[in-house]
Amino acid sequence: METPSAACRCPLQPPPLLLLLLSALYLRPGLGLNTVNTVYGDTIILPCRIEVPDDLMFGKWKYEIANKAPVFIAFRSATKKNIQYDDVPEYKDRLSLSENYTLSISNARIGDEKRFVCMLVTEDNVFEEPTIVKVFKQPSQPGIVSQANFLETEQLKTLGECIAKDGYPEGNLTWYKNGIVLQPVEGAVVISEQTNVDKASGLYTVTSVLEYKPTKEDTNAQFTCTVSYYGPSGLETIRSESTVFNIHYPTEKVKIEVLSQKNTIKEGDNITLKCSGNGNPPPQEFLFYIQGESEPIRSSSLYVLTDVRRNATGEYRCSLTDESLMDSTTITVHYLDLSLTPSGEVVKRIGEALPVSCTISSSRNATVFWMKDNTRMRTSPSFSSLQYQDAGKYICATNLQEVEGLKKKQTLTLIVEGKPQIKMTKKTSSDGTFKTISCIVEGFPKPAVQWTSSGSIINQTEETRYIDGKFASKIRIAPEENVTLTCVAENSLERTVTSLNVSAISIPEYDEPDEINGGGKRENGNDQAKLIVGIVVGLLLAALVAGVAYWLYMKKSKDVHGESEKEAAQNIQRLPRTASKHVDKDLGNIEENKKLEENNHKSEA
Ligand SMILES: *[C@@H]1O[C@H](CO)[C@@H](O)[C@H](O)[C@H]1NC(C)=O
Ligand SMILES: *[C@@H]1O[C@H](CO)[C@@H](O)[C@H](O)[C@H]1NC(C)=O
Ligand SMILES: *[C@@H]1O[C@H](CO)[C@@H](O)[C@H](O)[C@H]1NC(C)=O
Ligand SMILES: *[C@@H]1O[C@H](CO)[C@@H](O)[C@H](O)[C@H]1NC(C)=O
Ligand SMILES: *[C@@H]1O[C@H](CO)[C@@H](O)[C@H](O)[C@H]1NC(C)=O
Ligand SMILES: *[C@@H]1O[C@H](CO)[C@@H](O)[C@H](O)[C@H]1NC(C)=O
Ligand SMILES: *[C@@H]1O[C@H](CO)[C@@H](O)[C@H](O)[C@H]1NC(C)=O
Ligand SMILES: *[C@@H]1O[C@H](CO)[C@@H](O)[C@H](O)[C@H]1NC(C)=O
Repeated sequence: METPSAACRCPLQPPPLLLLLLSALYLRPGLGLNTVNTVYGDTIILPCRIEVPDDLMFGKWKYEIANKAPVFIAFRSATKKNIQYDDVPEYKDRLSLSENYTLSISNARIGDEKRFVCMLVTEDNVFEEPTIVKVFKQPSQPGIVSQANFLETEQLKTLGECIAKDGYPEGNLTWYKNGIVLQPVEGAVVISEQTNVDKASGLYTVTSVLEYKPTKEDTNAQFTCTVSYYGPSGLETIRSESTVFNIHYPTEKVKIEVLSQKNTIKEGDNITLKCSGNGNPPPQEFLFYIQGESEPIRSSSLYVLTDVRRNATGEYRCSLTDESLMDSTTITVHYLDLSLTPSGEVVKRIGEALPVSCTISSSRNATVFWMKDNTRMRTSPSFSSLQYQDAGKYICATNLQEVEGLKKKQTLTLIVEGKPQIKMTKKTSSDGTFKTISCIVEGFPKPAVQWTSSGSIINQTEETRYIDGKFASKIRIAPEENVTLTCVAENSLERTVTSLNVSAISIPEYDEPDEINGGGKRENGNDQAKLIVGIVVGLLLAALVAGVAYWLYMKKSKDVHGESEKEAAQNIQRLPRTASKHVDKDLGNIEENKKLEENNHKSEA
């Protein structure tokens, strides 16, 4: 019954063709034969491939396994038109034999990979035609399981397992790194494969374990694996999802940084030091070597120095906690000190000297500049003889250009005090109808001025602005007869009285210049003369003071009130009668009076 040849209608077939077919069969078994490829689970359709003879009695299907008796599975009678399936448990309820003797086997299994033979039997002949059945099952998409949480450089560790489940025929697994096949390397890339066959289904599950020793460069490497398998139409490949592994490697370098928004540091700033290591995972703890601390300080990667002073300038270091791998940085804390002497509110008398100094000390060279009443000064102030115009608000300021926000300033508010000084002038109007009498007053605080004539108070008519301790009070008069006008200027320091004889309006007289600045100009030319007069006067004053002191001593028991006040009151009373404010009979000594007057003129200048 078993014939190795195909389509054997022997008397008709020419012998050379048969030989050719036979040789083909030997060389490429399975390929020369009729082959049916079926996907696992599908229905296997096996056409009979023999032309149905007219005198056909019946058809049969059997399968053959090497070294075993053939097993009949289906029968169909051509005459009775009945079908019969043999009692083979494997094919129970799976077979269907059609009228044209095509056999369908549902739900293809791996066990169906056999040689099936269609037999057509006539009265005097038996025709046989074998068909090889091949079953294919695509494995699952491979997956990398049992993944390592992290890998470590210099350590061979299981990276993961690649599994492709339930394939047929058996597939092959291949590992890839960044799309390149990973070849085994002794001690660095170790791949071990394992195949499991499911007894019931006959399907293969292939597993490949990759042990891998990474380098730092593998940090972002993408690992994948593929399964290669034969499908009905040839070799196919399925790729797994890619996986990136956390590669641990030791720190090889530490770095210390100063975190700051500004690139310079000044006193009072907070400094944040940051230490970092280039390992993975990065080190969490460091030792900081801080200026002024004898022991290194254990800290997380940030260390804050608050409100630093100039002595914080220096080298700062950090290291790993085992004191290996160190880095250092240098910090310069800029500072700027300014000292103004004197400063604050300073009250001085006119003519006094006032040395002023503004000194700085700084981490960089800085220059000072001066402001007086909000105006920049060209030179720094210093006073050998204070004038009223020297009064004001002085600011000595400095800054460090390179250091943002580092500036200092101090203020000197200078007050120049002086007793009232009076100069009187008179001027007749061009039409000769009135005279303008000016009382030019210098002094600080601003003296109050009062005019009197013959003991009665005259309202002033005009007052110029008070500038640099000086102003003029003016009155206009048209006297019928000669009068003596008295100007009284008084501030907290002293009360000063000056009189001027003005002749009747009818009598022409010499007009003195009445400009407020007139006196000042003269003063400049007279400095030396004044100095000499000053010395003489000084000596005389000393004598006077001695005299007055003696006199006061003598008078003390009788008179409690201040003498000068009494004198002033008497002067006002006497003014209409006397031309000179200095005449004071109570003083008695005429010589001393003269000297007093001289002194008065001097200070008027
Ligand atoms: C045999 O019959 C089946 C259905 O009865 C049909 O699908 C198939 O094409 C036929 N085969 C041949 C070779 O005629
Ligand atoms: C699997 O690998 C073996 C050995 O390298 C090879 O002979 C075989 O053809 C491969 N099979 C597939 C399906 O790639
Ligand atoms: C420095 O830090 C302290 C708190 O630690 C804070 O009060 C202070 O304002 C900070 N100084 C500066 C200049 O930022
Ligand atoms: C700097 O000096 C201050 C006192 O002026 C002192 O308290 C501080 O500890 C010093 N800091 C350093 C780092 O030497
Ligand atoms: C600051 O000092 C440097 C040299 O130390 C000098 O070149 C520069 O001119 C100085 N600047 C001022 C403003 O004095
Ligand atoms: C001077 O002014 C006062 C008030 O300020 C006034 O009472 C007086 O009459 C005035 N005298 C003259 C002479 O104008
Ligand atoms: C007034 O003064 C003038 C000089 O200024 C003098 O010549 C005249 O005699 C005086 N008249 C009286 C009444 O004193
Ligand atoms: C003013 O005139 C009187 C006489 O009327 C005279 O005694 C006095 O010295 C004169 N004063 C001045 C400052 O000229």
